[in-house]
This record gives sequence, structure tokens and C-alpha cells, in this order.
Amino acid sequence: MSEAKPASMSRTTMTDIIFPSDTNYHGTMFGGVVMRYIDKIATIASMRHSRRGVVTASSDSLDFLAPVKVGEAILLEAFVSWTHRSSMEVYVRVESENLFTGERKTTATSFLTFIALDDQGKPTPVPAVIPETEEERRLFESAEGRYQARRKRKEERESNS
Ligand SMILES: CC(C)(COP(=O)(O)OP(=O)(O)OC[C@H]1O[C@@H](n2cnc3c(N)ncnc32)[C@H](O)[C@@H]1OP(=O)(O)O)[C@@H](O)C(=O)NCCC(=O)NCCS
Repeated sequence: MSEAKPASMSRTTMTDIIFPSDTNYHGTMFGGVVMRYIDKIATIASMRHSRRGVVTASSDSLDFLAPVKVGEAILLEAFVSWTHRSSMEVYVRVESENLFTGERKTTATSFLTFIALDDQGKPTPVPAVIPETEEERRLFESAEGRYQARRKRKEERESNS
């Protein structure tokens, strides 16, 4: 495993404008389109951290807090908040921006887990994360609890199948 990396090294941003083809019949952004952006930006952040191929293992929370309207901009930011052995927790925040007024709203937040794979497609160790900002430290310190909750969920699923 290589040296620990600051969370800033995986920090990734994306901006796009929402067209009618991205919306539902309410004229607001379709949830599935938001999820696609989230999965993509989290993939990039986790590949930047590990410099490996990755797969999405799970998304343990995705909270839609406010709709994005057609003609607004969508801004996404993601970074690796914590790692275990081969798994990386990625935090994603989505904002909308009214391009006429500049008003911004948090639209969605999500935690996803990505696994780094070696050349044989097997889980492989990743560098640890060095949190630097207050937000990075807060998420880093609470991550072990989320990891344990995911493990418990996996064990329950396996014992029920
Ligand atoms: C993710 C995957 C590689 C894990 O395989 P596995 O046999 O469970 O591997 P392991 O038991 O060795 O676990 C490897 C890591 O994955 C983590 N993991 C496994 N299932 C998980 C889940 N559902 N959620 C979060 N983490 C998970 C483990 O905690 C472990 O993390 P650690 O190494 O940091 O401790 C495998 O389930 C898989 O390939 N799933 C399909 C992925 C996919 O197709 N995604 C969509 C398209 S990219």
C-alpha cells in the first residue's frame, strides 16, 4: 500500500446546465440523472485516490434535499472521506445554482463505497486518507461507524439469503 494522501488529492468538481431532457414531468431534474452524476464523480474521486480501477460496492445514503429546475446549473463536489483496506468511502455534495440570481441550494448529499481492484479484478489495498479541513475531519472521524453499519447490513443480508 502506498503513502497516505490528503483528501484534497481526490477532490473532484463537475458543473453542468440542466436541459429539458434531464427533467421529469414536474420540470425538475430526474432523480436517476442526479444518481448518474453522483456515481460518475465518485468514481473519478476514488480513482484519483487509489490510482486503480474501482467498482461501486454500495450507496448507503442518498438524500434529495431540494429539486433542481430546468435551466439551472448543477454543481457536484466529491472526495474520498475515509478508507479501510480496499474500500473507500466517497462523500458527494450536489448543489443547484440559479444562473440569473446566483442563489445556490444543496440539492443532495450521498455516501458511496468504492472498492479498488488489482489487475486480476480482486480487492486491493488503498492509501489512507489525511483529512485537513474541518469538513474532512468531521467526516473522517464519523466514518468508522458508517463502515461498521455497512458490514452489519452485509452480514444480515448474507444470513437471510
Ligand atoms: C464489491 C465487491 C468487489 C466486493 O467483493 P467481496 O467478495 O465482498 O470482497 P471482500 O469480502 O474481500 O471485501 C472487499 C471490501 O469490500 C467491502 N464491501 C463488500 N461489500 C460491500 C458493500 N455492499 N458495501 C460496502 N463495502 C463492501 C468490504 O468491507 C471490504 O472492504 P475493506 O477491504 O476495506 O475491509 C463485489 O461484491 C463486487 O464485485 N460487486 C459488484 C460491483 C459492481 O458491479 N458494481 C457496479 C458497477 S461498477
